[in-house]
Amino acid sequence: SFIHSVALGQLQYLHNTAICVNSSGKIVAVKQDCDRDTAEQTLLPQLGWALDSVTITTAQDGQFFFPGFIDTHVHAPQYPNVGIFGKSTLLDWLNTYTFPMESSMACLSKARRVYSQCIRKSLSHGTTTASYFATIHVPATNLLADLCLSMGQRAFVGRVCMDQLAPDHYLDESPEQSVSRTREVINHIQSVDPEYALITPIITPRFAPSCSGQTMTALGELQKETALPVQTHISENNNEINLVKQQFPGIETYTDVYDQHGLLTDKTILAHAIHLSESEADLISQRQSKVAHCPCSNSSITSGEARVRWLLEKGISVGLGTDMSGGYSPSILEAARLASLVSNHLAMPGVKWPENATDEERNKVKLSVEEVLHLATRGGAEVVGLQDRIGGFDVGKEWDAQLIKLNAVPEAEDGVGSEYGGNVDVFGWETWEERIAKWLYNGDDRNTSRVWVKGRLVHEKK
Ligand code: GUN
Ligand code: FE
Repeated sequence: SFIHSVALGQLQYLHNTAICVNSSGKIVAVKQDCDRDTAEQTLLPQLGWALDSVTITTAQDGQFFFPGFIDTHVHAPQYPNVGIFGKSTLLDWLNTYTFPMESSMACLSKARRVYSQCIRKSLSHGTTTASYFATIHVPATNLLADLCLSMGQRAFVGRVCMDQLAPDHYLDESPEQSVSRTREVINHIQSVDPEYALITPIITPRFAPSCSGQTMTALGELQKETALPVQTHISENNNEINLVKQQFPGIETYTDVYDQHGLLTDKTILAHAIHLSESEADLISQRQSKVAHCPCSNSSITSGEARVRWLLEKGISVGLGTDMSGGYSPSILEAARLASLVSNHLAMPGVKWPENATDEERNKVKLSVEEVLHLATRGGAEVVGLQDRIGGFDVGKEWDAQLIKLNAVPEAEDGVGSEYGGNVDVFGWETWEERIAKWLYNGDDRNTSRVWVKGRLVHEKK
């Protein structure tokens, strides 16, 4: 069984199906109505593949393959802080927890330990692609790229650029330095992965409040020159928005600030996008910039509730981000579940709705199981610009996938014969749609049995 999202809200269930992946990790055939014998006797000969030259992996009864998750926004150096945020909100959270931890990645042996563990954890939760913010440090950022490459996680790796708002020792000294150090990382990634087959550099101005106008302009020019993607944060928190207003009194909105510095491109990933005005969302849509929705972070540090339906209806691509450690969880399954709950909160009657709002109007903003799983996979692929390569099981795409096991409850009362000890109990009467719903709301890394990126096995649950 292969299950994937083919469009927003639409999962396709491919049972009794064989998918063939070549030695470059590309899907070359998706054959329905194909049992193992047919695969071996008909399909393999058609491809000219000898049986003894292939590896066959079978999803047993009740197990299924699902596309790897895409974490469109995550901070690797913040991984040691997951769960530690108290009652802080964005600006005091940055000063209290985040800048001290990030600046400590100047120590390469610490960075190695933290980044290895972060990647291992992320892979074990089925995340096959991650868009990482690193720190201002070139050696540690290069190391993050090297570790993603060696551990096999597809990644965008960004050296964080910032020249104000943090302690002096954790700042770039000039716009030129932001650019030259970013170039050093680009050159390094080019030297280890020349075609960006797995790792892509990403231009990373932290967010407007921590970047001077000159730095943003310089990074905008670098984007034009290199055509590389960009990632940053936008409109996460009211105090942050006020800072941007003070910093750029002549510019109307936060979104205009990025636009006027050349950073609002069709390769820009904007994290959060919570408190946008109508005209800001329209501009983002016009520029074809993308949004990383981070419901775990937005709930943890009390930022707000992004209006995902509203963004989608404006034609903006939306994916999910863990935003560790603004978010406490490394899991995109958790992000998907929280995206569902946050959308339900937005639908609840309350101050944000006019008194005469109808149930229909309110319920429309709720995101379904199928919709949040779309954001977690195919939607995320659009956000990171890899929609032609990942996000689903289509011929021509690369095999970034996870094998999911649910717990089959045995018929015998003594529990003997239970197949698996995960948290999702399947009694046998559930439809596949119901099994997927159970997985979304109760699943975790215990269900993620194996994970592949570009055809390579990168995680196996022992
Ligand atoms: N805004 C600027 N930096 C950060 C960060 O590290 N995390 C989050 N969530 N928002 C930010
Ligand atoms: Fe973030």
